[in-house]
Amino acid sequence: MLSEFGRDMVAALANRPHAISPKYFYDVEGSRLFDRICELPEYYPTRTEIGILERSVGEMAALAGRAAEIVEFGAGSLRKVRMLLGAFEAPARYLPIDISGDHLRDAAAMLRAEFPRLDVVPVVTDYTQHIELPETTGSGRRIGFFPGSTLGNFGPEEALAFLQRAAGLLSGGALLLGADLVKDPQLLHAAYNDAQGVTAAFNLNLLVRANRELGANFVPAQFAHYAFYNAPLQRIEMHLTSRVRQVVALGGERFVLEEGECLHTENSYKFTIDGLRDLAVRAGFRPGPVWTDPQRLFSVHWLHAP
Ligand SMILES: C[S@@+](CC[C@H](N)C(=O)[O-])C[C@H]1O[C@@H](n2cnc3c(N)ncnc32)[C@H](O)[C@@H]1O
Repeated sequence: MLSEFGRDMVAALANRPHAISPKYFYDVEGSRLFDRICELPEYYPTRTEIGILERSVGEMAALAGRAAEIVEFGAGSLRKVRMLLGAFEAPARYLPIDISGDHLRDAAAMLRAEFPRLDVVPVVTDYTQHIELPETTGSGRRIGFFPGSTLGNFGPEEALAFLQRAAGLLSGGALLLGADLVKDPQLLHAAYNDAQGVTAAFNLNLLVRANRELGANFVPAQFAHYAFYNAPLQRIEMHLTSRVRQVVALGGERFVLEEGECLHTENSYKFTIDGLRDLAVRAGFRPGPVWTDPQRLFSVHWLHAP
């Protein structure tokens, strides 16, 4: 029987346009490649968001209050939360949520060694589904943390649905949300087409994963990484483009990909500050302060969850 990944990959190959959720990028290798993307000179979002957090974490700590419980969505390597943990007053518990289980458990073990008094409870789950969290500690507010502009991987309706569920989970607390901003398309283009080819390797790793986990027979060299900024839709699109006519076998079926056909692997929507705040209001949040960098490349939002 095929896994959820297998069923979604079969559907992606069977249907046109061919498209699959970016959540499947994140096996152990995908998570490692994403960490390398964050270090690339072209990839401004990570260092810009870290700069904003460094400058304003004192204000964020004051808003969070004492003994907050931090819930991080798509926590990855837990790098950014260290800034919150160092500045918040006696955080009570930290619940990092991620779909990439082994990577999350390793990162959580390292964090525990650094913050021995903190209760770190990794939650390995798909946050696009219902999220089951342990009861709150009741000691302070529940503060959600969703950095990296990962919200931009959702389409507009999915983003709204996610934020509505987050508002419910965080009721009485708040969400600290990082959102990449609309900007010069050349800067955006460069960020997803790095000179070292790490983003290309990240994109192609999806096929390597499908071969290993699903027994597919993709030949990665027969696909090209293709990423561009779709300005009317305000999103980066990532595709894998078939370099030749080829036949892919998966789950007992065979699928023809014509030369030039694309598998759409990711969207990364960009936001305006007002657009993001409107979306948050529609999801049930009350927008608070917004922090940005001097070049207004990236934004970090405090959203109260009534
Ligand atoms: C763009 S990375 C951001 C990582 C980190 N938060 C940062 O800001 O650098 C997205 C993260 O979300 C996780 N992720 C993606 N889709 C997910 C899903 N549906 N459910 C849970 N985690 C998911 C990935 O494993 C990855 O760690």
